[in-house]
Amino acid sequence: MPHRSFFHYNITRAYPFKWFTPLVIIGGIILTALVSFLNVAATGYELVSTSSSDPNATETNSIWFSKWPSYLVGARAACEAASLQVQSTIYTDRRAFPYELSKVWHVEEDGTKAYQGSLIYKNNVIQNCNITEIKIQFEGPDRSPGQLAVAPMGGTVTAKTECYIDADSGRTYFQMRSTYDAIPPPETAKSTFLNLNKTSDPTLFWGYSLLNMYWRSSMQAFFDGNADRSPPPFFKGVIDLNRNTTLDGTMEEQVESIEFLRVGDCFFIPLNSTGIAYLNNRYCNSTSITELSNSPTNPAEFTRPLPGIWRSVEGLGKSMWFTVLADLGRNDDAMPNMLARPKLLASLSSDLATVNETLRSRFRWGLNDRMFMQAFDPSQDVLLQVSQSILATDYLCQVPQLKSPGTLFISILVADLVILQALWKIFTLTVDGFFLKSTEEARHCANCAPVSQGGILHGGYKSVNGGDSQIVLLEEQRSSGT
Ligand SMILES: *[C@@H]1O[C@H](CO)[C@@H](O)[C@H](O)[C@H]1NC(C)=O
Ligand SMILES: *[C@@H]1O[C@H](CO)[C@@H](O)[C@H](O)[C@H]1NC(C)=O
Ligand SMILES: *[C@@H]1O[C@H](CO)[C@@H](O)[C@H](O)[C@H]1NC(C)=O
Ligand SMILES: *[C@@H]1O[C@H](CO)[C@@H](O)[C@H](O)[C@H]1NC(C)=O
Ligand SMILES: *[C@@H]1O[C@H](CO)[C@@H](O)[C@H](O)[C@H]1NC(C)=O
Ligand SMILES: *[C@@H]1O[C@H](CO)[C@@H](O)[C@H](O)[C@H]1NC(C)=O
Ligand SMILES: *[C@@H]1O[C@H](CO)[C@@H](O)[C@H](O)[C@H]1NC(C)=O
Repeated sequence: MPHRSFFHYNITRAYPFKWFTPLVIIGGIILTALVSFLNVAATGYELVSTSSSDPNATETNSIWFSKWPSYLVGARAACEAASLQVQSTIYTDRRAFPYELSKVWHVEEDGTKAYQGSLIYKNNVIQNCNITEIKIQFEGPDRSPGQLAVAPMGGTVTAKTECYIDADSGRTYFQMRSTYDAIPPPETAKSTFLNLNKTSDPTLFWGYSLLNMYWRSSMQAFFDGNADRSPPPFFKGVIDLNRNTTLDGTMEEQVESIEFLRVGDCFFIPLNSTGIAYLNNRYCNSTSITELSNSPTNPAEFTRPLPGIWRSVEGLGKSMWFTVLADLGRNDDAMPNMLARPKLLASLSSDLATVNETLRSRFRWGLNDRMFMQAFDPSQDVLLQVSQSILATDYLCQVPQLKSPGTLFISILVADLVILQALWKIFTLTVDGFFLKSTEEARHCANCAPVSQGGILHGGYKSVNGGDSQIVLLEEQRSSGT
């Protein structure tokens, strides 16, 4: 009697089919290739961190299998949303103005605003921006020495804008401010119009030219209005402009109107010969640009100060309004963008030639001669366009990268072995179940003796004839009906 180990082995028989070997070899090769291919997608890649400025492209086009259903793919590119802090400065993808993010909020169901500390942003299109205020400040002697050296008068134009984005978590509103100064102070780190190109983006180039020209014209008018006054002149002033919503006509007619912007507030601060300002500042006694510009030049009462500045202020306000909206991608029927429609641009730029002629050399410093200085000709074939904008920021992304050859080989090998073994098992069970049963020859064994009653040992085989190595299939025991 040979030794009986605790462990057993299975007995084998050759399959009695002619088709079996070619099927297994050819099928095996095809399946191995197919399974390896699937396994490369499922386990051959690892995620590595990278940064991207276009998460939509990174997420969709990163790799050949990125369009496969997610249950087949192990490593898929994903980008995290960026968190833009309130008070941080950001550009849009057109990079015209640096915007300071000043407020972020959700509107609750009962209509109240819930303010937040940051804007969670993931490449969302900026929508429906409204400018709520344009503030023009005449800074006078408060300018830096360098600024005063090149222009005797200067100031800033600031636009306050409200927009929203529609993210998965709902609609988020935010307010941004941007400031323009044609001769910025030397310490400023915020540059405007970073991507100017006259041929590829004439819309923004027109906005840039109009802003620059009307800024100079307004400052010169303020300077001239104060030059020879017997009462003390104004040394600084502020004008708030907002939209006149009571105008008649279509939106295109409204934006073209000189009354499109109304003067919400204005204050001018006089200076006296002791160098100390009067406490009584001068305000505007009208909201209408036409009325203010038609008032007498040297009135006894200063209720309508500096009539000479208002036409330039209107041009400057509108140029800022529509350049900011172009940067933010707003041009629709509810707010047609004057920089995107030939007829409206011709109207907005109609004063440019006059402005160029009247600007004196003291206010021409830094004028770029590539700038537009003549009114726009609507018959020109120029591609004016304002398309949707996004905020420009960088995102942290995880993208799939092929593993190193060594680890790739091991992971594919392990995964292949597991799957191929399972497939082999299923295949043989199927063949055994469907084909072997019906094959007479497979159920008998020339060398096998019939099983005697109760002679089964563990493992389904038994030795007969005193240890002779003859074995009997379990199958046969069952079919013999014992
Ligand atoms: C990027 O994808 C998000 C969500 O899929 C979408 O809301 C957004 O508009 C896309 N951004 C751009 C610029 O297409
Ligand atoms: C801008 O104004 C329009 C019309 O008044 C409004 O539908 C839209 O929601 C406003 N946009 C924002 C960001 O408040
Ligand atoms: C402006 O855009 C055009 C067309 O896209 C390009 O050929 C040209 O080089 C650009 N100019 C500058 C200064 O980038
Ligand atoms: C200058 O203003 C101060 C205070 O407003 C006033 O007291 C003073 O008389 C003024 N000087 C002149 C010369 O008007
Ligand atoms: C505003 O101007 C009108 C005349 O144009 C005058 O009657 C009125 O008193 C002024 N209002 C103020 C507050 O000065
Ligand atoms: C708005 O425009 C109309 C029409 O020109 C004008 O009569 C009205 O005074 C303006 N409203 C304001 C608040 O300026
Ligand atoms: C602008 O004005 C200057 C000086 O008056 C003149 O030399 C120049 O030709 C003008 N430019 C245009 C485009 O009219």
